[in-house]
Amino acid sequence: MKNRNIYFLLEQLSCFVLLVHVVLAANYAPRDKILLNCGANGETSDIDGRKWITDIGSKYVPPGMNSIVSDATLQKPSVPITPYMTARVFSSEYTYSFPLASGRKFLRLYFYPADYPNFDVTKGVFSVNAGQYTLLKNFSAYDTATNLNYDFISKEYSINVESGTLNVTFTPSRDTPNSYAFINGIEIVSHPDIYAGTSMLVGTFGSFDIDNFTALENVYRLNVGGQAISVNGDTGMYRQWEGDTAYIFGTAIGVSVDTDQNITISYPAGMPDYVAPVDVYETARSMGPTPEINLGFNLSWYFDVDTGFSYLVRLHFCEVAPDITKINQRVFEIFINNETAQPDADVIAWTTKSKVPVYKDYVVYLPSESPRQDLWLKLHPNTYMKPNRFDAILNGLEIFKINSSDGNLAGALPNPIQKQDIIDLSRVLPHDSGNKNGIIGGAIGGGIAAIFLVGFFLCFVSRRRKEKNQNSSDVTSNWIPLSLYENTHSSISTAKTNTTGSYARSAPSNLGRHFSFAEIKAATNNFDEARLLGEGGFGKVYKGEIDDGKTEVAIKRGNPLSDQGVNEFRTEIEMLSKLRHRHLVSLIGYCEEDTEMILVYDYMAHGTLREHLYKTQNLPLTWKKRLEICIGAASGLNYLHTGAKHTIIHRDVKTTNILLDKNWVAKVSDFGLSKTGPAMDHSHVSTVVKGSFGYLDPEYYRRQKLTEKSDVYSFGVVLFEILTARPALDPALPKEQVSLAEWALHSHKVGMLDQIIDPYLRGKIAPECFKIVTETAVKCLADVGTDRPSMWDVLHNLNTAIKLQESRDDGSANMVDEVSDEMPLNAKSKNIDGNLTDSTISNGLSTTLGGQSLATVDSDGLTGSDVFSQIMNLNGR
Ligand SMILES: *[C@@H]1O[C@H](CO)[C@@H](O)[C@H](O)[C@H]1NC(C)=O
Ligand SMILES: *[C@@H]1O[C@H](CO)[C@@H](O)[C@H](O)[C@H]1NC(C)=O
Repeated sequence: MKNRNIYFLLEQLSCFVLLVHVVLAANYAPRDKILLNCGANGETSDIDGRKWITDIGSKYVPPGMNSIVSDATLQKPSVPITPYMTARVFSSEYTYSFPLASGRKFLRLYFYPADYPNFDVTKGVFSVNAGQYTLLKNFSAYDTATNLNYDFISKEYSINVESGTLNVTFTPSRDTPNSYAFINGIEIVSHPDIYAGTSMLVGTFGSFDIDNFTALENVYRLNVGGQAISVNGDTGMYRQWEGDTAYIFGTAIGVSVDTDQNITISYPAGMPDYVAPVDVYETARSMGPTPEINLGFNLSWYFDVDTGFSYLVRLHFCEVAPDITKINQRVFEIFINNETAQPDADVIAWTTKSKVPVYKDYVVYLPSESPRQDLWLKLHPNTYMKPNRFDAILNGLEIFKINSSDGNLAGALPNPIQKQDIIDLSRVLPHDSGNKNGIIGGAIGGGIAAIFLVGFFLCFVSRRRKEKNQNSSDVTSNWIPLSLYENTHSSISTAKTNTTGSYARSAPSNLGRHFSFAEIKAATNNFDEARLLGEGGFGKVYKGEIDDGKTEVAIKRGNPLSDQGVNEFRTEIEMLSKLRHRHLVSLIGYCEEDTEMILVYDYMAHGTLREHLYKTQNLPLTWKKRLEICIGAASGLNYLHTGAKHTIIHRDVKTTNILLDKNWVAKVSDFGLSKTGPAMDHSHVSTVVKGSFGYLDPEYYRRQKLTEKSDVYSFGVVLFEILTARPALDPALPKEQVSLAEWALHSHKVGMLDQIIDPYLRGKIAPECFKIVTETAVKCLADVGTDRPSMWDVLHNLNTAIKLQESRDDGSANMVDEVSDEMPLNAKSKNIDGNLTDSTISNGLSTTLGGQSLATVDSDGLTGSDVFSQIMNLNGR
């Protein structure tokens, strides 16, 4: 109370306001700050520039305990050296003892489940206790990381220390023979008691106290409507904040609230501004500009959690829309786990002013019906209060698990990703309406879906851009860059897997290796043009060498003038670093310095698949090699569709995005990398069509419906491309042949598919193999997405096909060679009735592309903006 009066007094003296702000704006200065890099060789710095000390010879390691220090034998590319590459390994119980000032501490534990010499990675099963609390029980970092598809794991707890010492004990599991425990890093940082207090117990009339005896585990911490915030961007407590897009349910993602560029957040008297950083309050998500739409859905997030625990859900709010300044302008309901937590949330009513932060705490208990469950947060406009706007807003969110009465915080192993389940579900569930989760398909009809679809292509307007448009003070809707994971497919959203849980924290720090700009310059010989591999909308790609020339890499340097914002760049890194698959190009790391935005990838020695098919000096690929490459690419795409947390739609599958490494292993590239280049004009929706003509799903135009089946369509074109060795779009050919998809489908229909194959392959393809591949390709090109096979089916068929080819190659019998050589590929027009162009819009499009203006442009050189106007014209005909 005393403090509050002082603040009040100061506020009265307006000349002190500035001073107050300066005083309050200072970060929290933690009294205890221990960064212990276990097993390290001396002091090291992490990617955020923080210094870590070694535990070797440290005062926290009591004498007489048995342990060994070990180096991980392999550094996976995404794993930072500090604190992950060294470990302390224990075969018996081991205790670290930290003398600390009394009060609350964040205890953060870092695990890299790698091979440590003489230890079987699967036997690392153990418990961790801190003071009177059980943090982890029968914990296998290896199983956890495997199930979550993470390379490393970090955990954060908040514990009140009374006695002046915190003992952290590692105990190998008694249930696993030869088990051991290990730890890579321990971080202890004091924090002010900002989470204590009495909260409403949702679903009851009761309340719940968080007191000094309560330990918390942070399971989610999100900057809603904004970007990840690194440990240094926090208020001195080194908390990490993630973006929220990965947790939004369905396609009804709402919009990020755009604010004035010069927004100043003022923390109210009595609320210290270290509660959450300004960045959290500056950005928000709301439902969108159209009341009728907002009434039809809940803005929903879901979080995989352990059951049998209570959770503290802290919601951060700050009204940042310039035109909302009064009470009853925006009033909404908050549901937590389908119970009303707040019927009439009105941020201005809570804060009296706009741009003033406030947070609200709720506790919800999740009974243990099954080991894990989703915790739902939903917002919906309140109509009863008759507010000016039917809308809702949220700026930030933290979810903590609360210890059970016996002091336990340990929960169940997160569920593994069930690829097969996802595929089956996507087949079984209806596509749009009728499904209770079909928010877009059902409640919001086609036209609206179009709006959302457009949203996927618009990028965050970066801060830099905001500064350019000084005078626009309206609320404009910034759409988030969902280019990375559109879960537009409502049935897929239903089939989501429980993959994050309390381990989600590791995601933002899992960003791969950080390179300095100097390192990048050295790696590319100062961006030597002789090392240029290619150039795209994002910028130029160079060949580079890192680690003293030991590793060849491809370095993609963002064009500093490009509209591609910093935010999008970060989202890309965050997303790409989570996707790891043998058939996806992997991101090794990144460099972000001043205005530089650089991504570092594996180097692909054999370039693109296209370079080995046509218009090339390279030797033609054998049929088997082409099949192997397609199987690889199909498997990469199947992973994007089903293996990651969300269904990820590539949107730009083509032969130049299938890369080949030095062993001819196919890797899908450019997934999620937006191609919106410098020419992109945000004022025209028409410029943001994504994808390459010749490969585009016709349904995507007709219904604005983007699903993973759009990738299947493009892959069908790729299959015909390897069969025919001609471009997807060749404007120089006679009209009916311009589009490969159209031409191949027609040839199939009239039974002449064998006549358009690459002359080099004649006589080399086993007929059964040919039949399976062509039938699969034809099915991929089905007009309607639901008629197309899944990527899994395609993969399966191609695997069958290659086996048939192999058995034929051994037996060397009949091959497809019925093609008469006097009828070359380009001379087929006389056999065609010429009446093909009306079947799909893309057919019409390709015909137009055959016209003069674009005839000389290679299909991939065409950006959406170049040709979208053509589509519009066609639609209008
Ligand atoms: C929003 O969620 C609440 C709680 O689950 C539910 O009762 C309500 O029907 C939902 N509203 C809509 C429009 O989906
Ligand atoms: C948390 O654990 C402590 C220690 O066992 C216990 O005293 C406290 O009651 C527990 N809190 C809750 C909410 O059960």
